[in-house]
Amino acid sequence: MAGELEGKVAIVTGGASGIGLATVELFVAEGARVVIADLDRAAGDPLAERLGPASRFFAVDVSKRAEVEALVAFTAEQFGTLDVMFNNAGISCAAFPDFLYDTLDDFDRVVAVNLLGPILGTQIAARAMARQGTGGSIINTASIAGILAGQAMMSYRVTKAGVVHFTKSAAIDLARHEIRVNCIAPGHIQTAMSAFEEGSAPENVTLLAKEIDSIYLSNQPLKRRGLPRDVAEAALFLASDRSRFATGTVMPVEGGVTAGDPVNHLADILGARSRILGD
Ligand SMILES: NC(=O)c1ccc[n+]([C@@H]2O[C@H](COP(=O)([O-])OP(=O)(O)OC[C@H]3O[C@@H](n4cnc5c(N)ncnc54)[C@H](O)[C@@H]3O)[C@@H](O)[C@H]2O)c1
Repeated sequence: MAGELEGKVAIVTGGASGIGLATVELFVAEGARVVIADLDRAAGDPLAERLGPASRFFAVDVSKRAEVEALVAFTAEQFGTLDVMFNNAGISCAAFPDFLYDTLDDFDRVVAVNLLGPILGTQIAARAMARQGTGGSIINTASIAGILAGQAMMSYRVTKAGVVHFTKSAAIDLARHEIRVNCIAPGHIQTAMSAFEEGSAPENVTLLAKEIDSIYLSNQPLKRRGLPRDVAEAALFLASDRSRFATGTVMPVEGGVTAGDPVNHLADILGARSRILGD
């Protein structure tokens, strides 16, 4: 199905690593011209070079309005238009297992990147799209942590829940300009972010990743770890005209984690019943 994005111009924030990187590669393979927008120039520059004339790298902090405005202006200057904005850059927060002892030291930064980032990216991209009068597709990266409440990492959870609510609100607001706004809620995806222990010895990182996998997979119906490409495929659908009647949606890409409780309690209940009542 090559050519799904033929003629389209996209920005992918956080495009130098993980989910963003897989999306940049897929969008380019599908015919789009893509601006890789990321803080990490050391990773972004060689990526743009490898992908050739269909891509550019632009160094940006998505939490800074002036920098995001410069990013959108750069995209128009390089490629003439903007059809797809993927607000995907995000950071994790410190993991305190017990909220009582969370210092919340990183709260402002996590909110600035994960929540203000997609809000600024949406507004500034939408202004350009509305000016063009061609409509467009805006995609935000939320998380299952923004759908399911849970223990710990409160700062991260609230930003992702905010992204879900913001996406729906922006979809309603921007529909009159034919601008669609949707979000993706990835589950446990194999990237630098989900490895937790950057800078540790590689063998220990691998060992830890294995343990984390088995913990996550215990309540995930599809028994494999998600790959960045799994999320990129969802972004491709939302970026392309195939999703032309979809706006304000939250697309989980998480092996079924938010579908419900995969444990079959009925089997346990029937077992208890036959044990106790003997029927
Ligand atoms: N990996 C997972 O399991 C998972 C699960 C749910 C949601 N997510 C979300 O997916 C998105 C991508 O994460 P990933 O797993 O690919 O992580 P990643 O760490 O591999 O990539 C994140 C990229 O964002 C860039 N970035 C960080 N802060 C930035 C800023 N202020 N401005 C511009 N770029 C910035 C980083 O340099 C990096 O290239 C994030 O929003 C994350 O919250 C990831």
